[in-house]
Amino acid sequence: MQEGQFSRTALGAAGHRAAHQALEGGFFFADPLALPILGADAQAAIDKAKAQPLRRGLRLFIALRSRFAEDSAHAAIARGVRQVVVLGAGFDTFAYRLEAPAALRVFEVDHPATQAEKRRRLEAARVAEPAHVVYVGCDFEREIFVDALAAAGFDRRQPSFVFWLGVTAYLTHEAVYAALAAVAALPGGEEIVFDYAASPETIDDQAARTAHEDLARKVAAAGEPLRAYFDPPALHAQLTALGFSEIEDLRAEEVAARYAPGRAPTRRGAGARMLRAATAPTA
Ligand SMILES: C[S@@+](CC[C@H](N)C(=O)[O-])C[C@H]1O[C@@H](n2cnc3c(N)ncnc32)[C@H](O)[C@@H]1O
Repeated sequence: MQEGQFSRTALGAAGHRAAHQALEGGFFFADPLALPILGADAQAAIDKAKAQPLRRGLRLFIALRSRFAEDSAHAAIARGVRQVVVLGAGFDTFAYRLEAPAALRVFEVDHPATQAEKRRRLEAARVAEPAHVVYVGCDFEREIFVDALAAAGFDRRQPSFVFWLGVTAYLTHEAVYAALAAVAALPGGEEIVFDYAASPETIDDQAARTAHEDLARKVAAAGEPLRAYFDPPALHAQLTALGFSEIEDLRAEEVAARYAPGRAPTRRGAGARMLRAATAPTA
């Protein structure tokens, strides 16, 4: 990331969600704030999506990962979880659409420059910052996010739900495992949902591989190169060793099938995967 500048990949992901509203009517993921938070950039994102049909697979995956994560978060909140952490929040709008029960806190964790740009865009769109949102600056390569949260009122004794969407691929393996270890070390009843990239060699569809290489080139040029790929069995073994007792890992097409049985919107064999991991609740 360029020092002091907001994340260009955060803008890209938000652009895909906005285009999903415009081009697919929010079929997988309805987000009434996806266009407003982009302001003047929304139309450019839609035009780009129309002009580059190969972007559809990534757009639908980004919509699906938000849907999967938000469904999981709502289920956790319904069970009584009152701390939600959005790691690498970018221009995600979950917190601003949430009708939060009393005492619920949503901690948005990101680089300060990206947070400042988000808050500027929210203000421009006249979206109020709800009282349940707490902004926490953190660099995952330098600091364990739980330590950064402690100063912001996060209660380690209470269970939490953690979003981590579109971030792991941009970090080192060390930073990813350090954050996962920090979640696993909390007292129990934690749940984290994240996406990750399986190695490009596992992408068996040529068009999907080309789309992946194209994305890798673009994000590197924007100063946010892809760094971490994971081998699913090795990742699961690590999660188990850290103390996660429940692991659900889905390919993009499996997440799609959950919300639209019979419809195959994403290319088979693309390397993006969704993972939900939880630790056992304390007795
Ligand atoms: C592709 S964007 C995803 C944003 C958002 N989660 C979404 O799905 O739209 C990646 C996000 O991770 C954040 N990020 C990347 N590396 C980071 C780091 N080392 N520390 C903190 N945040 C980081 C960026 O600032 C950006 O907001």
